Amino acid sequence: MKEYQAQTDGLINKTVLITGAGDGIGKTLALQCAEQGATVILLGKTVKKLEAVYDQIEKLGKQQASILPVDLNGASETHYADLADTIKREYGKLDALVHNASQLGVLGPFAQIEKSTWDEVIQTNLTAQFMLTKALIPVLALAEHASTIFTTSSVGNSGRAYWGAYSVSKFATEGMMQTLADEFENSTLRFNAINPGATRTGMRANAFPGEDTSLLKTPIEIMPTYLYLLSDDSIAVTGQRINAQ
Ligand SMILES: NC(=O)c1ccc[n+]([C@@H]2O[C@H](COP(=O)([O-])OP(=O)(O)OC[C@H]3O[C@@H](n4cnc5c(N)ncnc54)[C@H](OP(=O)(O)O)[C@@H]3O)[C@@H](O)[C@H]2O)c1
Repeated sequence: MKEYQAQTDGLINKTVLITGAGDGIGKTLALQCAEQGATVILLGKTVKKLEAVYDQIEKLGKQQASILPVDLNGASETHYADLADTIKREYGKLDALVHNASQLGVLGPFAQIEKSTWDEVIQTNLTAQFMLTKALIPVLALAEHASTIFTTSSVGNSGRAYWGAYSVSKFATEGMMQTLADEFENSTLRFNAINPGATRTGMRANAFPGEDTSLLKTPIEIMPTYLYLLSDDSIAVTGQRINAQ
C-alpha cells in the first residue's frame, strides 16, 4: 500500500469529503484527490485556509471543489443532518468520507488535564466523527462502493504518558472504525483507519517543537495509502488499521 501507484484520474466520478482540508495532511489529500479527478468537499474551521485550497484546485482545471465551513467543536446533530441533505441534493451520493481533522489538546500529566481541554479534544476528535458518520451513512450507501477513512495515531492503540485526551480519542476512533466495519461487513460500505506516522505538519511541530523537521516525511510522501483506500482497488478491505509509513 505504501508503494501504491494511483491510476491517473483514478477517482473520476467520485465525491470525497475531507475534514480538516485546509491544512497539513488534509490539504495535501484534497489536492491529490482533485488531481485524480474527484470532486472534493473541503470541510474545515478556518474559511481562509479552505478558500486557498479551493483556489489551488481551480488552477488544476479539474472538478470544481466546494467549501463546507464547520467547527467540529461546536456543530450539532442538526448541522450534520443539514450537511448530509445538502450533499445528497448537490451530488446524489458520497463515495468517500475522510475523517482527518483533529486537535492535539494539551500534552502533559493526566492529573493536570483541564476538563475543558478534555471536552474539546473528545468533541472534535470523536463525537463530531460519530455525528458526521451517522448523518452521512445513508448518503454513503447511495454510492456503488463507499470508503470511510478514520485517522488514528501511534498513540491510538498503545497508550503513552502525557498524551492524555488525544490518545484516548484515537483509541476510541479505532473502536468506532472496527464497530462500523463489523456492522456493515456485508454491505457496500467499508471503514478503515490510517496511522499517518510522524509527518511534517503544524500539529507535529506543536507536539515536538524541538525536533529536526527535515527528517520527517512530508504529507505528499504518505499519500499512497490514502489513495489506495479511496480507490476501487481497496473495495474488499474493511476494518483495518494501516500504517502509512
Ligand atoms: N502530523 C503527524 O505527525 C500525525 C501523526 C499521527 C496522526 N496524525 C493525525 O493526522 C490528522 C491530520 O493531522 P495534521 O498533522 O495534518 O494536523 P494539522 O496540520 O494541525 O491539521 C489539522 C486540520 O484539522 C482542522 N481542525 C482542527 N480542529 C478543527 C475543528 N474544531 N473543526 C474543523 N476543523 C478542525 C484544522 O483546521 P484549522 O487549521 O482551521 O484549525 C486543520 O485543517 C489528525 O487526525 C492527526 O491526529 C498526524
